[in-house]
Amino acid sequence: MTKAIQGFSKLSKAEKQTWLAENHLENPQAALRLMQSYMHGDDRVQRQHDEFTENTIANFYMPLGVAPNFLIDGVVHSIPMATEESSVVAAAAKAASFWLHRGGFKTQVISMTKVGHVHFSYSGHSSDLTTAFNEAKPALLASTDHITTNMRQRGGGILSIALIDKSDALKDYHQLAVQFKTADSMGANFINSCLEVMAQAWKMAVADHVATKQSTMEVIMSILSNHNPDCRVISEVTCPVTDLKDGEIQGEDFAQKFKQAVDIAEIEPFRAATHNKGIMNGIDAVVMATGNDFRAVEAGCHSHAAMGGQYSSLSHCSIIDGQFRFWIDIPLALGTVGGLTKLHPLVTLSHEVLNNPSAKQLMGIVATSGLAQNFAALRALTTTGIQQGHMKMHLKNILNQLGANEGEKQSLTRKFSKSTPHHADVKIALQSLRSLQQ
Ligand code: MEV
Repeated sequence: MTKAIQGFSKLSKAEKQTWLAENHLENPQAALRLMQSYMHGDDRVQRQHDEFTENTIANFYMPLGVAPNFLIDGVVHSIPMATEESSVVAAAAKAASFWLHRGGFKTQVISMTKVGHVHFSYSGHSSDLTTAFNEAKPALLASTDHITTNMRQRGGGILSIALIDKSDALKDYHQLAVQFKTADSMGANFINSCLEVMAQAWKMAVADHVATKQSTMEVIMSILSNHNPDCRVISEVTCPVTDLKDGEIQGEDFAQKFKQAVDIAEIEPFRAATHNKGIMNGIDAVVMATGNDFRAVEAGCHSHAAMGGQYSSLSHCSIIDGQFRFWIDIPLALGTVGGLTKLHPLVTLSHEVLNNPSAKQLMGIVATSGLAQNFAALRALTTTGIQQGHMKMHLKNILNQLGANEGEKQSLTRKFSKSTPHHADVKIALQSLRSLQQ
């Protein structure tokens, strides 16, 4: 049986569900019931979800958790986090409580400049192109006026345009590199629209100014960059090392070992990838909850992590004169208006939980979430090991997978409260509990 289909997108939602159930799923009736059970009860809300993307056949739930007690720049926040990974929200909350009594997190937005490029090939005299660019610059800017009017009123717009010759790296390759400010919006559509219009104006300008037989110019593509080195934020915590005393562990010992863990991630890509994955656990969850593009943020953070020529840590640590400092310095292109912010009800709620932050404030909150997550992971890794906390949270999932009822869950959660539960151990314990009950 062929599973190819023509005109799938033209089918109604019910027809799509039926086609999928009948062609791809073993029990079509059960599959249909399942898809339908994941529909929103309010038709208007469901329609909005249907239209976020194409060919929608159901909604895909993710838990929305909250990590309270985040003291950031003097204000206590509860941070909404959308994640499926157990222990991420608990770890964030734990780190937040730890720093709540040690001065909290301080953030600083370095700059909010975004960048995009018209990528083009040009063969001809370099000086002709430069002359054409210098003459065309006002016209290039003017070509986008109809798009930038609103943005300029909101304090954004185009900051600069530069002609860059990259033909040393790739034959004939050149760019128009354009810097943007996008106020409180993430600005992807705005930037891409400006670049596409500018590319047309640039083509005309080159045709007018560099009309020699030896020169050719072709626009390859026009697109924003998710590498945003100038859209950066710092979040940090600092305290005397003595304040880091953790149970039996002395502050000095904790600080030294913690710093060693960060230092390893600075020089060892194998560790840096996992270290940064932990940071992204915190970042992505808030980026998702606030309706931002986590793939863009991931791309930007990882390209930043590789800027030194070798993939490295996104966070850093110092101990100077008995003062512990732990910080993150990352690019974050975020928006608090447009996109899903007013369309997805839970995104709107998440913004309200955060007191409707500006894009600048959200950058600080998201960076802090990443730093807190990293702190929690390194604290566990360098003391008890990660599995203790992880497996405790994971126990819930194991019990659900094994079909444990509420009574069995309580009993086995008690049983494993002082040890690290593995799937096999839990299975055996559940079987023996059930055999005792028979
Ligand atoms: C797991 O999702 C994240 C950690 O591996 C991060 C780290 O190792 O730093 C715990």
